Amino acid sequence: MADAAQLYDEVANAGAAYTSTTAASYDAKAPFDPSDDVKRLRALGLDRTKTLVDLGAGTGRVAVAAARYAREVIAVDISPAMRELFEQRRRLLWARRVRYVEAGFLSYEHEGAPVDFVYSRNALQNLPDLWKVVALQRMHDLLRPGGVLFLRMIEFDYEPPDVLERLEQHLAALPTDPAKGFTREETVAALDTRTYGWLMTVMLERCGFTIEHARHGYGIFAEYVCRRAA
Ligand SMILES: C[S@@+](CC[C@H](N)C(=O)[O-])C[C@H]1O[C@@H](n2cnc3c(N)ncnc32)[C@H](O)[C@@H]1O
Repeated sequence: MADAAQLYDEVANAGAAYTSTTAASYDAKAPFDPSDDVKRLRALGLDRTKTLVDLGAGTGRVAVAAARYAREVIAVDISPAMRELFEQRRRLLWARRVRYVEAGFLSYEHEGAPVDFVYSRNALQNLPDLWKVVALQRMHDLLRPGGVLFLRMIEFDYEPPDVLERLEQHLAALPTDPAKGFTREETVAALDTRTYGWLMTVMLERCGFTIEHARHGYGIFAEYVCRRAA
């Protein structure tokens, strides 16, 4: 069987914003309070008997916040720079229940029983569609039957005739100062791995997930709560 991690270089394609010296500014550039997502994970059944894998965990914002309510959290990220930032966060009280694994969507090798939850926020869009499907199938296989995938990502909720107009509206609204968010230049450089919401639906279903909830925000953010068949 072909080895996806051999065929696609996840480190080289992870995005300069996460793998270079600029990684340290990521949390300030993209501020995010993880408490709502943790609340939602708990409402979906996360408790001290459950294991959660956070793929593309970055500096561990959600992983650390969720660890307080889980049996174990495994935070997975391809970037050594993000790992270093996570280690600073680990000093927080509950971080001892987070295991950090430096690996990617395609290379993470899970040891132990299938997990109850897979979470991923704003990371899957870094893979081209060919590899998104492989990553989604791996997430499916990582989950126990009935397990939950809570996936948040950047994707375009655009209909084909509107793509260029909506894209331009999006790019025109981006900040010019890189300290205040992702700029037009940074966003354009990453466009070739972006996909459409209507393709994501098919990809998720083809990989064996039932979509229980889907929401799109501003035409560029999406969240999916999906379940592996029981
Ligand atoms: C926008 S950040 C999001 C980080 C975190 N999930 C959050 O919401 O704070 C994207 C993360 O995806 C990671 N990443 C990029 N490509 C990846 C891959 N192929 N496998 C795993 N992580 C990847 C980057 O290193 C980065 O930490």
